[in-house]
Amino acid sequence: MLDQSSTSSDKLLYLSELLSAMSLALDLTEGQSPGHCVRCCWIGTHIGQEVGLSESQISDLYYTLLLKDLGCSSNAARICQLYLTDDIQFKADFKHWNGSIPQALRFVLSHTGLKAGMAERFSAIIKVLKDQGEIATELIETRCQRGADIARMMRFSENVALGIQNLDEHWDGGGLPKKSSGTDIPIYSRIALMSQVIDVFNTASGRVAAITELDNRSGTWFHPELVEAFKKVSSSEDFWLNLSDNNLLQNICKNDPAQNAIIVDDDYLDDIAEAFSKVIDAKSPFTSGHSERVTIFTDLIAEQLGYDSETRRWLRRAALLHDIGKLGISNTILDKPGKLTDEEFEQIKMHPVHSETILKHISVFSDIAACGCRTS
Ligand SMILES: [Fe+2]
Ligand SMILES: [Fe+2]
Repeated sequence: MLDQSSTSSDKLLYLSELLSAMSLALDLTEGQSPGHCVRCCWIGTHIGQEVGLSESQISDLYYTLLLKDLGCSSNAARICQLYLTDDIQFKADFKHWNGSIPQALRFVLSHTGLKAGMAERFSAIIKVLKDQGEIATELIETRCQRGADIARMMRFSENVALGIQNLDEHWDGGGLPKKSSGTDIPIYSRIALMSQVIDVFNTASGRVAAITELDNRSGTWFHPELVEAFKKVSSSEDFWLNLSDNNLLQNICKNDPAQNAIIVDDDYLDDIAEAFSKVIDAKSPFTSGHSERVTIFTDLIAEQLGYDSETRRWLRRAALLHDIGKLGISNTILDKPGKLTDEEFEQIKMHPVHSETILKHISVFSDIAACGCRTS
């Protein structure tokens, strides 16, 4: 239990520190290696600086990149339901799709209903192939719209919200959901999608593979000028050394290229914790509203126990975020109607550990990081 004498309100909290740590939870949901959003932030802000974005534009770009996957939990259950598959593996593998039709067909066949019976699998494949366009639009629209809404709840500008909302639009108009093209797509989205592809391919297969992928998609997915800007900044060995540095998360906070370190006060921290709890609860229909209800009960108990208002405030934040690690658990487990296998139960038991790992990166949360472990 939280010690009333040890709440952390006297420590300064920077927005970059808070959100870079929380982005680790988004990486889990997207099936990416820890630090994906942070690495995208490093990559994308360098591209933005190379093309001459202003200081305030770099600041908006910085947060678009960290939070590009804010809506990622909102379509996880639907993916699981439609494709009868593990949403996390599905999302991880989907990021390697290059837009070609033969690859899309192979993707559907290799990801749909692998553990289902033959008839169920066949029926799911037919449905997915028949309605492929509508399904892709629905899944991407849900994720992008939800991500933008949560960014607004976190008090971000329209630049950041729209940057997230348009993440999957392509330079040639072949993206989703609006099929916007060229400079109609916000520059924040254009850079974020490129940064995402660079990190996915660099992490999986190295820098040559990442640059080859950029070249292959230049003029279709990506704005050619931005591709050239990336090649320029990535010609320095230091760029790649910093990108693979184990301390990149701390480094991007310390060297915030936005140069406008924003301090999070108590009211803002409450708003961010509440907004993020909606990301957590959106992962599964079975957890809808869970964090909110846990917060109400927590506060009622804390009041009965006579905790002071400052301690109750921290306990409410802990309650809102206690299940942040659940973002790393597949919906095949979270939404399973029957009894879990031993292996599935082992995975469920990992979610409070993930919660603690993420929250421990935030200095002011040192007192509450273990709450997930102790309450779950
Ligand atoms: Fe919980
Ligand atoms: Fe839990």
